[in-house]
Amino acid sequence: MSRLKTIEWGSGNGVRIIDQTLLPERILYIDIVTIDQMYEAIKVLRVRGAPAIGIAAAFGLYLGVRDFDDNGNIRDFLSHIEERANYLATARPTAVNLFWALDRMKNTARDCVEKTDDICIYALKTRLFDESCAILEEDRRMCRAIGEAGFELIKDADCILTHCNAGGLATSELGTALAPIYVGHEKGHSFRMIFADETRPLLQGARITALELSEAGIPVTVICDNMAASVMATGQVKACIVGADRIAANGDTANKIGTYGVALIAAAHNIPFYVAAPSSTFDLAMPDGAHIPIEERGREEVAQWCGGKKTVPDGAAVFNPSFDVTPCRLITAIITEKGTIFPPYTENIAARLG
Ligand code: MRU
Repeated sequence: MSRLKTIEWGSGNGVRIIDQTLLPERILYIDIVTIDQMYEAIKVLRVRGAPAIGIAAAFGLYLGVRDFDDNGNIRDFLSHIEERANYLATARPTAVNLFWALDRMKNTARDCVEKTDDICIYALKTRLFDESCAILEEDRRMCRAIGEAGFELIKDADCILTHCNAGGLATSELGTALAPIYVGHEKGHSFRMIFADETRPLLQGARITALELSEAGIPVTVICDNMAASVMATGQVKACIVGADRIAANGDTANKIGTYGVALIAAAHNIPFYVAAPSSTFDLAMPDGAHIPIEERGREEVAQWCGGKKTVPDGAAVFNPSFDVTPCRLITAIITEKGTIFPPYTENIAARLG
C-alpha cells in the first residue's frame, strides 16, 4: 500500500488532503477548513475519485455547519444543513458517492432530531463529525473487502490493464480497482506487468496510478490511451480492471472517459473486463446508464498541455465529457465489498444490494 494519504481529519481544525492537481511533481498536503474550500477542492480535482469525493463531501458538510449558533433553533439548524448540502452537491455531477454521503449526513441529523427530543445543536454537530469519520472508516473496510474478493478473480492474470485512478488516492486507502493488486502484493504475489492508461485529458493514470503503485513498490508501465488496443492485441493483458463513478440498476457503469473504449477493446480480444466499486457507488434509482448525468469539463483541460502550452487552435471547438458509460454486456463481473456480482446484472445486483 502506498504511504500517500488521500484524506483524513487533520491534527488542527480541518481536513487534510493531498493536492492531487500537483501530482506527481509535488506532494503537498493542504488543510481544508471551510466548506467553500472543500467545494473548490472537489470541483478542481484536488480531491477526486468517487469514494474520496464522498468522504470529502461528508467532512465538507460538517465544516459548513460547525459554526452555526449552538443556542439557535434546531429546525433552523436542519434547514441550514439541507442548504449547505445542496450547495456541495453541485460540485460535480457524476460520482454518486457525493450525493450518497450528503444524504447520509442529512438523514443522520434528521434521525437524531426525531429520535431524541431534547438533542442540542452542539450534540448534533458532534454526531455529524462522527458520521464523517464513520464514512471514512467504512470506506477503508470496503476497499479491503473488494481487494480480497478481486484478488481471487485476477490472481492468475499476470498482466493487468487499468484506466484512470481507482487506487488509494481515489478512496481512503487501498482503492477499488487497485485494491486486488495491493492485496496480492501484501500476500507476496507479484503481477508480471500492470499497464496504466495515461487517461487524457487530466492524466490520472499517468500522474496518480503510476505514482501510487511505484510508491508501493509495484512495477507499473504507463501507456498512452491510444496504445491500449495494440497492447491488448499482443496477448499480454490477461484482465482489465477499473473503478466506477456510478453503476445503474442494470449494471451499466459510468467511469472516467475512455473506459468504454477499454471495455470494447477487451471484448474484442476476449479479455475479462472487471469493475470494482463499493455499494455506495450503485444508484439503483437509475434504471440504466443512459440516465446517468455526465460531467462536461472546461475547454482548457483539452486545449492546453497540462495547463500550459496550447494544443488546440483558438478557432476549434472542444468537447470534454469527463466520463462515459460502459454497457453492462461488456462487463465480466462487478466486484463489491458484498461479493462479486456476475450477469444477469439486473437480478443479481438487486439480490445482492437491493
Ligand atoms: O475525474 P476523477 O479523477 O474524479 O475520475 C475518477 C474515476 O473515474 C475513477 O475511476 C472512479 O471515480 C473510481 S475511484 C475508486
